[in-house]
Amino acid sequence: MNSARQRLIFALDVDNLADARGLDDRLPGHVGVFKIGKQLFTRCGPEVVRLVQERGGEGFLDLKYHDIPNTVAMAGLEALRLGVRMFNVHALGGFEMMAKLVAAVDEVCPRGNPDRPILLAVTTLTSSTEETLRQVGIDRPISVMVPKLARLAKDAGMDGVVASPQEVGLIRDVCGDDFLVVTPGVRPAFASQDDQQRITTPADALRSGADYLVIGRPISAAADPALAADMILQEMQDALAE
Ligand code: C5P
Repeated sequence: MNSARQRLIFALDVDNLADARGLDDRLPGHVGVFKIGKQLFTRCGPEVVRLVQERGGEGFLDLKYHDIPNTVAMAGLEALRLGVRMFNVHALGGFEMMAKLVAAVDEVCPRGNPDRPILLAVTTLTSSTEETLRQVGIDRPISVMVPKLARLAKDAGMDGVVASPQEVGLIRDVCGDDFLVVTPGVRPAFASQDDQQRITTPADALRSGADYLVIGRPISAAADPALAADMILQEMQDALAE
């Protein structure tokens, strides 16, 4: 698997290109992948992906597609053409939606091609409670839904899921080791908890089996973001060497 730098995904949660450029100028070399979400992408579009790439970083397009299978497959091909390292869909979109996306990507960029993006599924948003699920007619506990949706994603040919660090074990039980798990909600000891509730340190997230860590404010809000990223990388390297 990759080095610590390639496993660290920085959440580029700013709302304009100038701020994105400010962070992008300082962080490549320290962070491998930059997560671009709905707000920044809706405002700035593909230019923000190119900005990251021009500075030596890779993009994670966090748009969580959820639509009819054909629309998601076509959107996925556009993400592939943008050259992003990874992008995601909602597993709740269903098996056919994910399988059609995988088939479309297979046709243009088969497995093994270094340009093939990593295809991720979101199982259940960590903002969702069991009450949220009941309101949309799902009467099962989250601890059942998360592994069920992860397995559905794996069976459809997706490469991995985005999940809370606490869910990694449940996912590994049903999907095995040959399936990527990307976890946000990670806080190094030196950073504030912000609004994250169930946090894990970078070392513990890796020890629990996460492949990639998504970390935003502990880096962006630090007085020296590059130094903060380096401290996280050191902690990750130590955990990977155990
Ligand atoms: O600043 P912070 O490290 O909390 O940022 C985490 C990033 O991961 C944010 O972009 C947030 O939207 C995202 N995220 C999360 N929890 C999830 C899914 C995504 O915090 N369950």
